[in-house]
Amino acid sequence: MAGTSKLLHVLGGGQWQLPTIELARSMGYRVLVTDMYQERPAYALADLHEVVDLTDAEGTLQAARRHGIDGIVCDTTDVGVPTMAYVAEALGLPGIGREAAQRFTDKYLMRKLTAAAGIQSVRHYLVGCLEDLVAGAAAIGYPVVVKPADNQSSRGVHRVDGPAGLAAAWADARRFTRQPTVLVEEFLRGTEITVEGLMMGGQYHTLAISDKDHFPHRPEVANRLTYPGAFDERVLQTIRATNEAVVRTLGLPTGVTHAEYMVDGGRVALVEIAARGAGSFVYSHIAPHVSGIDAPRLYLQFVMGETPAVTDPGSRRAANLEFFSFPAGRVTEIRGVEEARALPGVAKILLEFGVGDELRPPEDDRSRPGLMVVLGDTRAQVLATSAEVKRTVRVEVA
Ligand SMILES: Nc1ncnc2c1ncn2[C@@H]1O[C@H](COP(=O)(O)OP(=O)(O)OP(=O)(O)O)[C@@H](O)[C@H]1O
Ligand SMILES: [Mg+2]
Repeated sequence: MAGTSKLLHVLGGGQWQLPTIELARSMGYRVLVTDMYQERPAYALADLHEVVDLTDAEGTLQAARRHGIDGIVCDTTDVGVPTMAYVAEALGLPGIGREAAQRFTDKYLMRKLTAAAGIQSVRHYLVGCLEDLVAGAAAIGYPVVVKPADNQSSRGVHRVDGPAGLAAAWADARRFTRQPTVLVEEFLRGTEITVEGLMMGGQYHTLAISDKDHFPHRPEVANRLTYPGAFDERVLQTIRATNEAVVRTLGLPTGVTHAEYMVDGGRVALVEIAARGAGSFVYSHIAPHVSGIDAPRLYLQFVMGETPAVTDPGSRRAANLEFFSFPAGRVTEIRGVEEARALPGVAKILLEFGVGDELRPPEDDRSRPGLMVVLGDTRAQVLATSAEVKRTVRVEVA
């Protein structure tokens, strides 16, 4: 029935856009995908695709016009969020607005606006040269974090413990930014958490809160997120209140959010927040399971011009997302994957390599070799199942 059903434009054709495309099709929409690459996993699932860079707002608008889209969404990658807002505005379609898109993709603006509103104070400077970085780091006090203000996947993000490390951190941050500047900020101590949320009809819903652990060799890259985070109710309350205040300060009219904070005693300090969901099945599987709120479906209904009502069951369940760690070397054998998939609660096991591939310790989010998603009722239960998965999946290397 092509031509009769509404057309949704999905920005990005990678693996984390696949659940959105499947959902859209199951809701009866046709799907146009645009992405910068000639070959993308999502093209086979979409009704239409075009090769357009997600950051090319004009080119994306032209493609959207040519196909007569009814709505546009970029729900799991930051790079297309400003383009989504631009195209929606230009075509008079529902969206988050260009201003909000900018505030939710620029880490310097997040710092500046939340500080101005008096809800967050994390020492930071935006610097345009190495000399200013040296001065900024000295004023903040070591350790500091040096990073691009406009990137994701931890690329170009480094902790620096003294002046000697600044030149290398500057060069790496510059490699991964489109801006002439780099952000330097206070190193936040404590437990890192993530918070997923949905803003709809003026109401903000906190969907899921995790605590996070990191690879020992690369502390900027996460290897485990467990929901709910292991905090007492008072701290969870502070997290929810802080996150909602951040979302309202940055001014998201409607949409989904994915935020990271550092929790240290009573201090809940923002690392960053995005106006999209998180990849690795967090947006598509984990947050809906934990909250009982199907945010991906509600968000698609919104961008397609409906005004859905949100029903919050009020209950919260548990989930664990864990990234595998395997010994380095050339893979000779992979065992136990099907057996692990059959364990109760195991929703996903994804290995991004095969026999003959070379495994190295991950350097950024994109080079993690595989993951598992375990869903359940309690934190203890999902952690126990995850331990069982790790015992069951065996990877031999030469
Ligand atoms: N100021 C800080 N203090 C302590 N740790 C930090 C700070 N900034 C960043 N980090 C650490 O580095 C990680 C990546 O930083 P950030 O989230 O800003 O970059 P990103 O490129 O958006 O990464 P990702 O897409 O993985 O979230 C954070 O999740 C956190 O572990
Ligand atoms: Mg981050």
